[in-house]
Amino acid sequence: MKFFVDTAEIAAIAELNDLGMVDGVTTNPSLIKKSGRDIIEVTREICAMVSGPVSAEVTATDADTMIAEGRKLVEIAGNIAVKVPLTWDGLKACKVLSDEGHMVNVTLCFSVNQALLAAKAGATFISPFIGRLDDINLDGMELIEDIRTVYDNYGFETQILAASIRSVNHIADSARVGADVITAPPSVIKAMVNHPLTDKGLDAFLADIKAAGIKIL
Ligand code: E4P
Repeated sequence: MKFFVDTAEIAAIAELNDLGMVDGVTTNPSLIKKSGRDIIEVTREICAMVSGPVSAEVTATDADTMIAEGRKLVEIAGNIAVKVPLTWDGLKACKVLSDEGHMVNVTLCFSVNQALLAAKAGATFISPFIGRLDDINLDGMELIEDIRTVYDNYGFETQILAASIRSVNHIADSARVGADVITAPPSVIKAMVNHPLTDKGLDAFLADIKAAGIKIL
């Protein structure tokens, strides 16, 4: 499973990238706003650091302007994935941009039918939002599972990019049901290391190291 980082914070991406944990990056207008940076500048910096796909989202809602924005975004670097919303115009833009050979990430997916349309339109990635479904008492993970089944039934190559991840359990469950990629905030990826038995076991080993005076260097 590939790990994308869901942020536009350069330092946070760099820390995980140095550990080999970053297969790509996703951004959205809210994350760009949070970074306080210019979208083109910050996206260029991210693309220079990370070799995998970097999603940058269009701002328009009509297909023609989305296509024009997408063509401008892909000039930033060869690893840009143009992110378009799951609307009829977004699907039109997806079809044109993917036919031109660009990676397209179709975002704001909340149903299997939407995921089917995105795959038919040639999306490289489909982004179902787990957390936002959970927020309204629906089951985000069930959607990931259903899209996996439907894509496999028909051999669609669009990659399932599990998004809106809020917890470490979302990551483990996405892996269990066969998402191709997860995108998560850096804090959630880092929290995957935590286990109380690891802490307890290490405390016991450290106590014995001290008691026995064990030294290596
Ligand atoms: C994905 O591409 C989105 O940027 C992101 O995962 C949305 O997450 P949120 O629902 O926590 O804002």
